[in-house]
Amino acid sequence: MKRTIIKNAELITMDQNETITHGDLVIEADRIRSAGPIVQPTPGDRVIDGTGRTVIPGFIQTHIHLCQTLFRGKADDLELMDWLRKRIWPLEAAHDQESIYLSALLGIGELIAGGSTTIVDMETVHHTGEAFQAIAESGIRALSGKVMMDKGSDVPLGLQEKTDDSIRESVDLLEKWNGHDNGRIRYAFAPRFVISCTESLLTQVRDLADHYNVFVHTHASENRGEIAIVEHDTGMRNIIYLDHIGLAGKRLILAHCIWLNEEEKEIIRKRGIHVSHCPGSNLKLASGIAHVPQMADLGINLGLGADGAPCDNNLDMFQEMRLAALIHKPENGPTAMNARHIFRMATIEGAKAVGMEQEIGSLEAGKKADLAILNLNSFHCNPMFGTDPISRIVYSAKSSDVETTIIDGRIVMENRQMKTIDQTF
Ligand code: GUN
Ligand code: FE
Repeated sequence: MKRTIIKNAELITMDQNETITHGDLVIEADRIRSAGPIVQPTPGDRVIDGTGRTVIPGFIQTHIHLCQTLFRGKADDLELMDWLRKRIWPLEAAHDQESIYLSALLGIGELIAGGSTTIVDMETVHHTGEAFQAIAESGIRALSGKVMMDKGSDVPLGLQEKTDDSIRESVDLLEKWNGHDNGRIRYAFAPRFVISCTESLLTQVRDLADHYNVFVHTHASENRGEIAIVEHDTGMRNIIYLDHIGLAGKRLILAHCIWLNEEEKEIIRKRGIHVSHCPGSNLKLASGIAHVPQMADLGINLGLGADGAPCDNNLDMFQEMRLAALIHKPENGPTAMNARHIFRMATIEGAKAVGMEQEIGSLEAGKKADLAILNLNSFHCNPMFGTDPISRIVYSAKSSDVETTIIDGRIVMENRQMKTIDQTF
């Protein structure tokens, strides 16, 4: 079988070795065959010279909206509820099949070019099939789903939907896409947030997610106005309500989780809910600063995501890592969220958030070959000082330092040239 060998590279494996200074990484079909031992290439092997390069596990972004990629820069100075009501919802309502497809392609291209190999994505009410098509063609690993919103008089007509239609369309998409391409694509139900979903919808989502054994991905406790509406509508705090509905569990990913009380944090911990920290979006939409160091201390699993409102309007994991490392320092001290911890959130903890820690998130024999090859020798990475590579990645590197991205053993970008997955085979 044809192998791809990345020779003589620095490998940041994130297993017990963490970093191997000079090693080879061998890919066979969709999996890593070995990471570290030196191997002799045989005729027919594809050899990538890794000299002076750093190989890392591909980043896992645990909260993304591909359908919002085209809206960047259109509403940069609004808080969440105004941003949604005045700009994002009308723009989502105006999407057609072609614009969703292009929005998804643009977002995926940017993700791959920045070394992100897996995303947890939330689409809009209509045309989610086109986003799945873009995901399928691009080769990115994704959990994605149609947004569900069957409640709310302030929602534009084009986004209002009936409970039964929302459920039926979601299940149709699930049946078509869940497990596609050998499991690279998975369906995740995406009720938008509690205030746009009826209790009937949420309980049906709970039962269907159990039935199909798929994830649920939603926003929670992002903004003070939002949690006030949840309390008004349900008489409960956001996370307590989700627990009451029976949605809280190991297959739930909650984006943001900024405004939590201790009881809610305890529910998240106890139930094994995964939290997607989105520092750029939380700053941009003036939502607040999540208690990430405290959640980490409690043992809550945390991933990172750029969301649909990343602070610099790019789906850039380097930016999110840097912000996540920096914003907690004044309150919690310089080491509370140190570079290693942040890099783990971007990789292996993200893998846990999607239930794939046995498959992705580190460079280990037997795992899926989802990785990025970086050149950390540019002047802005300060290579002359010989700094620790993880520190360099978190504090100095940029998306443009990613040279090659491989997902499921397929080269989807090589030397910054994008490749369609068909070209690879
Ligand atoms: N809450 C409900 N919908 C959204 C959305 O599209 N983006 C963000 N950041 N928060 C939300
Ligand atoms: Fe979001």
